[in-house]
Amino acid sequence: MNHYPKLFSTMKLGPYTLRNRIESAPMGMHGTPEGYFTTESAAYYELRAKGGAAIVTLGESMVDSKGTSHGRVNPLDDPGILSSLIKTTDAIKRHGAVASIELLHAGIRSGTPRPDDPVYGPSAGTSFYGKKIIEMGEAEIEKVVNSFGDAAEMAKLGGVQMCMIHGGHGWLLSQWFSPLHNYRTDRFGGSIENKARIALMIIENIRKKCGCNFPIEIRLSGDEFTEGGMKLEETVELAKVLDGKVDMIHVSAATFNDRAAGLRMFPSVFLPRGCNVYLAEAIKKVVKTPVATVGSLNDPAHMEEILESGKADMVTLGRALLADPYLPEKARSGNAEDITPCIRCNYCISQNFTPYVKYPRGVVQCVVNPIIGREDESRFVHISGGKKKVMVVGGGPAGMQAAITAADCGHEVVLYEKGKRLGGTLLYAEHEYFKEDVRKLTEVLARRVQKRLIKVMLSTEVTPEVVRKVNPDVLIAAVGAEPIIPNIPGVQNRNVFVAASIYDEGDIGKKVVVIGGGLVGCEEGLHLAHLGREVTILEMLEKAAPEAPYLHWLGLMKELEKSARLETRAKVTRITEEGVYAVNAKGEEKFYEADTILLAVGLKPRTDVVESLRNTAPDFIVIGDCQQPATAMEAIHMGYFSAMNI
Ligand SMILES: Cc1cc2nc3c(=O)[nH]c(=O)nc-3n(C[C@H](O)[C@H](O)[C@H](O)COP(=O)(O)O)c2cc1C
Repeated sequence: MNHYPKLFSTMKLGPYTLRNRIESAPMGMHGTPEGYFTTESAAYYELRAKGGAAIVTLGESMVDSKGTSHGRVNPLDDPGILSSLIKTTDAIKRHGAVASIELLHAGIRSGTPRPDDPVYGPSAGTSFYGKKIIEMGEAEIEKVVNSFGDAAEMAKLGGVQMCMIHGGHGWLLSQWFSPLHNYRTDRFGGSIENKARIALMIIENIRKKCGCNFPIEIRLSGDEFTEGGMKLEETVELAKVLDGKVDMIHVSAATFNDRAAGLRMFPSVFLPRGCNVYLAEAIKKVVKTPVATVGSLNDPAHMEEILESGKADMVTLGRALLADPYLPEKARSGNAEDITPCIRCNYCISQNFTPYVKYPRGVVQCVVNPIIGREDESRFVHISGGKKKVMVVGGGPAGMQAAITAADCGHEVVLYEKGKRLGGTLLYAEHEYFKEDVRKLTEVLARRVQKRLIKVMLSTEVTPEVVRKVNPDVLIAAVGAEPIIPNIPGVQNRNVFVAASIYDEGDIGKKVVVIGGGLVGCEEGLHLAHLGREVTILEMLEKAAPEAPYLHWLGLMKELEKSARLETRAKVTRITEEGVYAVNAKGEEKFYEADTILLAVGLKPRTDVVESLRNTAPDFIVIGDCQQPATAMEAIHMGYFSAMNI
């Protein structure tokens, strides 16, 4: 039975019959120092082909690596790339997906060999990074046009079957389209036809060099969401010019020239799912060419609705396919409830997001999927030592993942949880209005536990006595952490609560002070503000929530600006029945009135429980918060690898 008939209907694209309407978005990663693909990157892309996507798009690849360097991304003007490209496209094609590649020229966003070297763009001026822009003459334009054609030809030689021209996000082509950067008065400026001329020349050049059986998709920003930038109405006109010239129009959003717009490019948890669909819909209304939509899609039912209602012809998924590369296959086979949801924490992208992190980490990893970034090595992991009896203590993310993986490895597993439900610290997310996907994640993990032959014992505290009765070969302690209660006068007052437990325990007053502006304090404060409370968050350090992935941090700060007061460098000195006193950077004491005070100053491992269990089984492994307060990513990954290593 086809559960999502439209999503799993085929589609003709040039010579190809796509097996469904799901495209894997371009998501680049670092290769060798030359920018070539590696066995790791081939495995990274392969997984998404294996998971069922119809098209797998290789990320940003440079059409002119000398003129427009941009990190260590694949140089398509260097034949040295071919062998690694062939291995990568082979890995995609052997699973029945079509291999595509994104062609990019950075234009005024190019890196240059020397910091003072100029960059080339549509119009003279100063770039976002302060570089001098030289206006491109006809000769430079011709060179760029040829470099796209040559790059596509190189890609085709490398086994690539179609390409995606990057015409959005503030890279060269969108610089030509956008009123922000193109003020020319010649045949390349002014009207939208003129601004699109270079794109049409590129398309023609690619067709000439790659033939008509090499489909071309163009990625546009439906709206740049930047002051003075391109608006939807202008992109609609641009799409009319491109209609019939390309095989698919792909509608993304925003530009890198505006940091906040990045929240739209990689839609944050504070935006509704599918927030960019209306951009594709508006374009689809005026063109005959198939249209793809992208931006925070992760639910097959939602995708079906988008396609069914004619808002787009194709859905493109980025982060959702990192969280679960098997999303397409699970949806197709009626197993959608097992899809690991992307929680839009933006860890994957933020870690490589220079200049916002000091150095890009050069590896894509995913909080909810331990395999990402380790696709290659994971193929070689095998189980040794035969079947064992594994006892997992603690049903939070680390414990659940350990139990699931141990069961998948063929071990006999028993999982103990002190509370009434599985979920551990993930359960706190149930309350926060922007954590719907974390809620889903908890459900998915709990369901996976249920579906396996795992014996689950809820509401059961584990003592050494219990362990002795179970008599496991391996004991995995995942007993979590408890909140730190700071030594502040008044901390025991009745108006003081621990952040995570407030919903279970207390009436929340009108005025709330949150002590501790880490990620937990900020998120909790934001949620309470959303519930209509007057919220003040006090953070001792200079920066709030520094541990948050950059893009999530940016979104969070923007939301807090709207609804709560955040004071950094504020050290709380005492708590009274009426509120909180804190000393600021200048040493001045200030009073903050509050009915309710929340403590969010961190967690400490349940070391006493861990130590009571040590030496009660032949093998003893400690994971998650009880080892050291961990992020959800660390917990899930530790759970996975602890079980793989048994
Ligand atoms: C790890 C990562 C790498 C990305 N690399 C590229 C890239 O090389 N080129 C590009 O145009 N977009 C890139 N993107 C953006 C995605 O293609 C996509 O537009 C964006 O993630 C929004 O889709 P999503 O909400 O489904 O993730 C990247 C995104 C992620 C998460």
